[in-house]
Amino acid sequence: MATDPVTSATATARPPVAAPPPPTVMNADAPQIDAADRKVAVHVQDFALYYGAFRAITDVTMDFHHQEITAIIGPSGCGKSTLLRSINRMNDLINGVHAEGDIMINGQSVYGPNTDTVELRKRVGMVFQRPNPFPMSIFDNVVYGPRLHGERDKRKLAEIAERSLRSAALWDEVKDILKQSGLSLSGGQQQRLCIARSIAVQPDVILMDEPASALDPISTLKVEDLMRELKAHYTIIIVTHNMQQAARISDMTAFMLGNTNAKDRSGRLIEYTRTSQLFTQPKDKRTEEYITGRFG
Ligand SMILES: Nc1ncnc2c1ncn2[C@@H]1O[C@H](COP(=O)(O)OP(=O)(O)OP(=O)(O)O)[C@@H](O)[C@H]1O
Ligand SMILES: [Mg+2]
Repeated sequence: MATDPVTSATATARPPVAAPPPPTVMNADAPQIDAADRKVAVHVQDFALYYGAFRAITDVTMDFHHQEITAIIGPSGCGKSTLLRSINRMNDLINGVHAEGDIMINGQSVYGPNTDTVELRKRVGMVFQRPNPFPMSIFDNVVYGPRLHGERDKRKLAEIAERSLRSAALWDEVKDILKQSGLSLSGGQQQRLCIARSIAVQPDVILMDEPASALDPISTLKVEDLMRELKAHYTIIIVTHNMQQAARISDMTAFMLGNTNAKDRSGRLIEYTRTSQLFTQPKDKRTEEYITGRFG
């Protein structure tokens, strides 16, 4: 049998890696939920996703927990965004996409025949790499989702806008300019506006695809602080190329890697564990090589 470098996981525990250089600030001090109290919010089972004939990810089985931040890391093209977009079926918008396996959110099937994708995307919000406020006022941006879902009461909409902007740590900066265009804000403010928009519909899960990669360091730290606050109420899944960031903010880290076989380059989950463990004592040699900057 040919050895597949990606699927042949290294079962034996490896000795501790001598001080990997990248992540210096660890999240180990963060209060951790007792194992017995952890609640699975998103369960991915034997999942594969194809763009036409090309299988982008395969064999993904993993749980994402409520009130935790999970980081997905791995080299470009290994399928991080594909996995993220699979959770709220954003990939459906691309022609020729099909999935195998299933994803369950709080026990409900995402890929089952009865799934209402509008309802699904209400339960699973998404924040993208580039802030993408709609060309409308700050207020209208935030209440876009609730309006779409039928909320017309002006007082309620005002309450939702204030609550969401406060949760997104933006209220103080915009409370006097709510009628101004969302596009007039700075990049960091726009990203927090997009976060406010995504939480206005009170989702269960928030997906973030490199949410800070287009931001300056101060805005990045603001978004990270915000994520730490939001995790008290949500399940947060973040894709990041910044390993320091993964180490700073996440409770769990998943390392993905594309296969090196020319006929099958699909991305797989190589190692998934507590962030503190993954960055100090990775079990798989490929994880170790990646976090110490030897490839990717
Ligand atoms: N719309 C698409 N149509 C066809 N192939 C796609 C599409 N989107 C992604 N792919 C392919 O699927 C694979 C995984 O892509 P994906 O964007 O998920 O990677 P990624 O890990 O997020 O990379 P990056 O770190 O560069 O964002 C890549 O080979 C990519 O070329
Ligand atoms: Mg990506």
